[in-house]
Amino acid sequence: DKGNHRHFMEKEIYEQPEVISHALSRYMDFASNTISDNINAIDFKATSSLAISACGTAYLAGLVGKYWFERYARLPVEIDVASEFRYREMPLSPSQAALFISQSGETADTLASLRYCKDHGLKIGAVVNVRESTIARESDAIFPIMAGPEIGVASTKAFTCQLAVLASLALGAGKARGTISAEQERELVRHLAEMPRIMSRVLNLIQPQMESLSRELSKCRDVLYLGRGTSFPLAMEGALKLKEISYIHAEGYAAGELKHGPIALIDENMPVIVIAPFDRFFDKTVSNMQEVAARGGRIIFITDEAGAAASKLPTMATIVLPDVNEIIAPMIFSLPIQLLAYHTAVFMGTDVDQPRNLAKSVTVE
Ligand code: F6R
Repeated sequence: DKGNHRHFMEKEIYEQPEVISHALSRYMDFASNTISDNINAIDFKATSSLAISACGTAYLAGLVGKYWFERYARLPVEIDVASEFRYREMPLSPSQAALFISQSGETADTLASLRYCKDHGLKIGAVVNVRESTIARESDAIFPIMAGPEIGVASTKAFTCQLAVLASLALGAGKARGTISAEQERELVRHLAEMPRIMSRVLNLIQPQMESLSRELSKCRDVLYLGRGTSFPLAMEGALKLKEISYIHAEGYAAGELKHGPIALIDENMPVIVIAPFDRFFDKTVSNMQEVAARGGRIIFITDEAGAAASKLPTMATIVLPDVNEIIAPMIFSLPIQLLAYHTAVFMGTDVDQPRNLAKSVTVE
């Protein structure tokens, strides 16, 4: 049932504040603002490094997770798309743990990577939506993302719920390893607790602007997305979402890679979507944006209030989100990315919920 929405994808985008709060309340206790003990189903303290494997959007969630595990838990992460991971013959040892991220829990390559790790004696954790799935069944520890059924082929709420769970795991790992203090833990959990309310506010705030911008995007043949830090996987996720449902060619790049190739593509026909919260990468990303502007590129700048105040560059559009803590920025910045892709596809009249050539669950390699 789509309720009063035109597509399941739209419904699922707007469900995010609610399902994210389910995900968060499973892994944190808001009375004491602490991470719950259930994340200790993996012994992160005894773990020498973490291997993460997944496909598509779930892989991009894992890539954000890598930044968090390394930053907050000082836990080295090896991550790869499952179709490569399973055949790389990666040296592994039982002192490592492995995490597999999958909405459906049935993705063939992800399952094969899991079995490879299991054969090497690693402890296996699964970040899944479908708890009765094969990947869940074959894991030692299950971390459900609590997103509820996702019908739209393009993943939206599963992505942000995966992020919420990975943030919880990274902070829990940090707590277990003694790399974040009790005070930091309380502060970060407090920020996460505020996220559902901020998401609702942002969805209402940006909807009209996303709809009008989608008219511009629908005329383009190619779109480039740029970001640094956790905004780099988001840039790739933005590009993936747009290509999946609107069939417009899009690429996501680390902003610092711009001058190593993609800058050759910049002209007045190709919009460049820059994802840049006012974080420690902001100035670097803005200097990449400057290089785009200098070549006549049209910029869609997705930033926050502090970022909008700090940059004076001319843009085709600036999307201003509220200032939020770094730990929740990837989830909040997912919203304009999803809505831009959604409205562009709607405007172009494609089959948003069932895009051509795609299946919701990829059970063959
Ligand atoms: C993108 C998308 C796919 C899936 C990928 C993995 O919108 O939906 O890229 O993320 O096929 O699927 P799961 O998470 O079921 O393993």
